[in-house]
Amino acid sequence: MRRSMTTLILATTLLIAGGSSFFQARAAGLKNVHVHEGYDKQQLMGQMKIYARSLGVKCGYCHVKGDFPSDDKANKRAARSMMKMVKSLNRDYFPDPDGVRVTCFTCHQGKKLPLNTPE
Ligand code: HEC
Ligand code: HEC
Repeated sequence: MRRSMTTLILATTLLIAGGSSFFQARAAGLKNVHVHEGYDKQQLMGQMKIYARSLGVKCGYCHVKGDFPSDDKANKRAARSMMKMVKSLNRDYFPDPDGVRVTCFTCHQGKKLPLNTPE
């Protein structure tokens, strides 16, 4: 009886310790995120796929291969600044969450650089 109690306590301790380190890892999983604060990894990935498709590019257009947190690529730095711009545009001019909002696609339309004059 005593022995199984010890085992139970040990197992519970391991579960709690393991569980909290799991959540810590998840929270710390994103290392260099300034615009998407509070996103979990899955939400961030959904957003990343939309960014890539909005510009018609792959992840490597902005990211150093094998090092997603790195800011070494100019395109990533430019993209972060664009994300801030989009955020403030929507906050200041298109605040209705059910209305049409500005996104990367609004300007880029699947291209690396938006067209400034009609085709
Ligand atoms: C147009 C540029 C762009 C494209 C394309 C892009 N990303 Fe990102 N990514 C960023 C920026 C900018 C950030 C930082 C966002 C912030 O500061 O909130 C980021 C952050 C991340 C992070 C978080 C890294 C960390 O821990 O700090 C991951 C992971 C990531 N991107 C993966 C991807 C994947 C996978 C793809 C392809 C499906 C992709 N990204 C496509 C610009 C891009
Ligand atoms: C209001 C229109 C507009 C929106 C919205 C917009 N962009 Fe841009 N973006 C531009 C223009 C214009 C340029 C070209 C700037 C230049 O050549 O200096 C550009 C260029 C870029 C570049 C390349 C920078 C370079 O120097 O070549 C990246 C990367 C980029 N945008 C990412 C994004 C992402 C990601 C989003 C959404 C978060 C976004 N943009 C939303 C207008 C926009």
